[in-house]
Amino acid sequence: MALYNTRLLGNSEESISYCVELINNGEVIGIPTETVYGLAGDALNPAAIYKIFEAKGRPQDNPLIVHISKMSMLEEIACYIPDIAYTLADNFWPGPLTMVLPKKDIIPLQTSGGLDTVGIRMPANSIALKIISQCKKPLAAPSANISGAPSPTTAKHVYNDLNGKIPAIIDGGACMVGVESTVISFEDNSIRILRPGMISEEDLKKYAPVIIDKGVNEKIHENEKALSPGMKYKHYSPKAEVYVIDGELVAFNNYVRNNFEEGTFCVVFDKDSSLIDFPHLTYGNSSEENARQLFDKLRELDDIGAKTVYFRCPLKDGVGLAVYNRLLRAAGFEVIKL
Ligand code: TXA
Ligand code: MG
Repeated sequence: MALYNTRLLGNSEESISYCVELINNGEVIGIPTETVYGLAGDALNPAAIYKIFEAKGRPQDNPLIVHISKMSMLEEIACYIPDIAYTLADNFWPGPLTMVLPKKDIIPLQTSGGLDTVGIRMPANSIALKIISQCKKPLAAPSANISGAPSPTTAKHVYNDLNGKIPAIIDGGACMVGVESTVISFEDNSIRILRPGMISEEDLKKYAPVIIDKGVNEKIHENEKALSPGMKYKHYSPKAEVYVIDGELVAFNNYVRNNFEEGTFCVVFDKDSSLIDFPHLTYGNSSEENARQLFDKLRELDDIGAKTVYFRCPLKDGVGLAVYNRLLRAAGFEVIKL
C-alpha cells in the first residue's frame, strides 16, 4: 500500500530546505552521495531509524552508516578515536571511506544494529553535506534500494524501488563513484577492510598495514560471525542467474557459445563489444568505469528479462576489488575460471 505520494525533487536550495524540515520531523529522504544514493534519516531518532528499516525491508541486525558534515560531529558520536582515524579523515574525508569506531550512547542501538560500534563517514557530495549541516545532526543513510536489490546510482533507481514508501527524493544526477564506500575497522596497528570501495588497499596501506577481511572474497556461512553484517546477505541479485567468467576473451566467447540458451546475455568491457557474438551489455573499460556502471547494468538486465548472465571478470586491484566483491554477491559466489 502506498503511504506517500513520493516527490522527485531537483537540487535547489528550496528542495534542500524542504528535505531538511522533513528529516527534522522524523521522515526519511532519498539523497545523492558520491557513492550511491542514500536513504537518509536522523541517526539519533529511533522512530526515523525504524522507518529506514521498514522502507528497505532491511534485516534489523544490519547496522547503518552514520554520515557527518564536520569533524566535531565525529567526536559527538564516537567514544574513542585513534590517531590513525584522524590521519585517514585528513586524507580521505570528505570521501567514500567509512570507519567503524566504538559508539557513544547518543547513537541508538537501532542505528548500530545492536552493536557497540558505529560506521561513520563524511560524504563528498555538496547536496549531502548541505543537508547534514542544515539538519545540524548526523544522518543515518543506508543505500536507498530495497534490501537485496542493486544499490541505486540515480534518483530514478531510488524512485523505482521506494515510490510510495518515502515522501521525497532529491535528484543530484548519476553518482560519481557508483559503488558503496570502503568500510574499515581498526585493530592493533592495522586497518581491516570489511567492504572494499573506491578507497583501495593500495591507498590505505600508505598509512598502516592493511588486512582484507575474509568476508570480502569468500562466502560467510550461516553459523559464522560476520564482522560487517551486511556482507552475509545475498546482494545485488538481478532475477537472472549471474556467473563471473574469469578468463581471456577467446575462452569467454567459447564458453558462452557452448552454454548459450534463450535469455542468455553477456556483460563485457567496451573494448570487447565488436568481438562478442552474443547479445550483450558493456560496463566500461577501466575499473573506475566498471564501478560507475555496474549497478545500472544489473538493473538493466532485469528490465530486458535476462535469464542467464555471463560477466567478464573485472580486475581485482584498486576499485576493481570492489566491483569484483559486488559481482561475487550478485553471482552467489559462482566464479568460472577458464
Ligand atoms: O557509500 C555508502 O557507504 C552508502 C552511502 C549511502 O553512504 N551507504 C551504504 O550503506 O552502503 P549500507 O547500509 O547499504 O551498507 C552499510 C555497510 C553494511 O555492510 C554494514 O554491515 C556495514 O556497512 N556496517 C555499518 N556499521 C557497521 C559496524 N558498526 N560494524 C561493522 N560493519 C558495519
Ligand atoms: Mg546497501
